[in-house]
Amino acid sequence: MDLSHKPRIVVLTGAGISAESGLKTFRDSGGLWEEYDIMDVATPEGWQNNRDLVLRFYNERRRQLETVAPNAAHKAIVLLEEHFNVDIITQNVDDLHERAGSRHVMHLHGELRKARSEKYPHLVYNIGTKDINSGDNCERGAQLRPDIVWFGEDVPLIPLAAEIVSRADILIVVGTSLNVYPAAGLLYSAPYECRKYLVDPNESTNNVFNLEHIKAKAGTAMPVLVKRLIKELTTKNR
Ligand code: OAD
Repeated sequence: MDLSHKPRIVVLTGAGISAESGLKTFRDSGGLWEEYDIMDVATPEGWQNNRDLVLRFYNERRRQLETVAPNAAHKAIVLLEEHFNVDIITQNVDDLHERAGSRHVMHLHGELRKARSEKYPHLVYNIGTKDINSGDNCERGAQLRPDIVWFGEDVPLIPLAAEIVSRADILIVVGTSLNVYPAAGLLYSAPYECRKYLVDPNESTNNVFNLEHIKAKAGTAMPVLVKRLIKELTTKNR
């Protein structure tokens, strides 16, 4: 099949898609930001004030990845690839999309399984499931930090992400409260007429044209939505 003629689907994901795998979201009741102060663990100031606390927070998150697996929502997205050009743009720092088998995954907010030099940001290392500790240095002698985009830092992949969204025929937004910018603004980069789906069991406020809110958990809703989109496409092409 000629790939260039496949319709383009962009899937924008957030913590909610990994909730049914057992990873906590940030802002739901019982979420991570109830347990930790964002300022302490997810800002450059937090890193300056208490590096060990920040390292511990992300080491715990990284270790937890070994205990969880992709769920039905991650797996359903993989099935789209046979019929559509699929790009995933995720705010998640876990690797569940990759482990499910998705091929094009962009991590806007970084990745738990990578470390980067605090002084030379282009020095990025795959660390798998290993901890980062105080005194672990890059090859040029500077401390390693989690490869996570913290609040107050640039999100370098946003222009590329906006470009990808601007070419979408279908946009699926799954499991994000759309609270954090610039990621949340990507919704508005989609073409006006592009079909948009929001999969989230809770209320959401936005006034985007052509959006259907599927008010259900990702693990239930995504397999159904994926089946529906594939069926529509194959019926149309017959
Ligand atoms: P949030 O915790 O803000 O939002 C999670 C969303 O998932 C909420 O809208 C929930 O209603 C929804 N949700 C919960 N369970 C779900 C399920 N089973 N299926 C579908 N949806 C479900 O998480 P994000 O929007 O991803 O950034 O947060 C964005 C960023 O804020 C994160 O990347 C992180 C955080 O601070 C950094 O740390 C830089």
